Amino acid sequence: MILVTGGAGFIGSNFILDSLLPKTGLETPLSSQESAVQNKKPGIVNLDKLTYAGNPSNLKELEASPNYVFVQGDIADRKLVSALLSEHQVSAIVHFAAESHVDRSIHGPMEFIETNVVGTFQLLEAARTYFETLSSTEQNTFRFLHVSTDEVYGSLEPREPAFLETRQYEPNSPYSASKAASDHLVRAWHHTYGLPVLTTNCSNNYGPFHFPEKLIPLVILNAIAGKPLPIYGDGQQIRDWLYVRDHCAAIRCVLEKGRLGQTYNIGGRNEKTNLEVVQTICAILDELHPKSSGSYVDQITFVKDRPGHDRRYAIDASKIENELGWRPSETFETGIRKTVQWYLENTSWVDGVQSGSYRAWIDKQYAK
Ligand code: NAD
Ligand code: TYD
Repeated sequence: MILVTGGAGFIGSNFILDSLLPKTGLETPLSSQESAVQNKKPGIVNLDKLTYAGNPSNLKELEASPNYVFVQGDIADRKLVSALLSEHQVSAIVHFAAESHVDRSIHGPMEFIETNVVGTFQLLEAARTYFETLSSTEQNTFRFLHVSTDEVYGSLEPREPAFLETRQYEPNSPYSASKAASDHLVRAWHHTYGLPVLTTNCSNNYGPFHFPEKLIPLVILNAIAGKPLPIYGDGQQIRDWLYVRDHCAAIRCVLEKGRLGQTYNIGGRNEKTNLEVVQTICAILDELHPKSSGSYVDQITFVKDRPGHDRRYAIDASKIENELGWRPSETFETGIRKTVQWYLENTSWVDGVQSGSYRAWIDKQYAK
């Protein structure tokens, strides 16, 4: 049994669907090794607080599944977490739960400290207490996998080599600082208490179920609604984009084969400027969903830059590739096309997430 935290969010939902619905839920075919693991089909307990970013309808296909349990609750509620670990005899924790949006962290950092730092601390403490009750055989297979981000490493200069796992931490936003703090706690719980942890630091994800406050889904949905496509500053900031299901496959790979206490960087070697990303989305929409006249690029609007905006992120994924044999299945071109298609086809999901609180955020962030 796996305890997934934050499984009603973007990446967590994809991870659970991939793990429990390998045939219908997967777009990226599994390797034969992965298929063997999939045939065992784990049980999953999904603990999610259901903040604005959590959406249990992402997982509605699993409502009747005997392998899936949803629990609404906070990772910082140690009593609840301890009870879930014992009740379900959990053998691994995959920790996604976090406040994840840089712009929100600039407007209000408190929740980022509460969930990403204090919440992770409470989760680690519950895991440590539970781990001590396990038999030595159970302890040998128990894992705590912490899902983190490349943003902890800070910003790269144009020609600097991509981030290796040994790169110094230099977080620049309240979000990345809170994730960096959580990475340090996870590391310390391994070194001090022997908790069998693994940490993954991944680049920017995109794909189905991505909440439309983030660049790619925001641009797709604004484009088809005839609204401006906001580009911060000069649009020359670089991100290294990875299709979400490739990230999920990497997490399964690290969970299965990763060396205890190690960090694995995950990325698809897809460095793109924000302007390139938006232009690519516009070109795909021009083809799949043409406007009556003109191109979607006409809607591109340059807006005030994000304070402290990191210029460039890039991941060197050699360690996970060479040690564990993981490779991404999608290029940016194939993944972004699937993503645009998904948003065009899933209009009821889109209507569901564009609620009053979503509109309030958009009004606040893009007022000027
Ligand atoms: P998300 O914001 O879409 O989802 C976060 C989920 O966590 C939501 O379902 C939310 O309800 C839940 N949550 C928040 N606070 C909670 C709490 N206190 N207790 C329980 N649940 C809580 O985030 P995401 O994009 O799916 O990211 C998941 C993880 O992956 C995060 O840890 C993030 O830092 C990391 N990550 C994200 C990206 C990316 O591009 N999205 C890249 C690398 C790493
Ligand atoms: P985002 O999706 O928020 O991810 P992150 O900040 O974690 O990398 O943003 C991706 C890039 O797109 C980032 O450089 C900020 C930029 N961006 C815009 O230019 N306009 C927008 O409206 C948003 C939300 C982001």
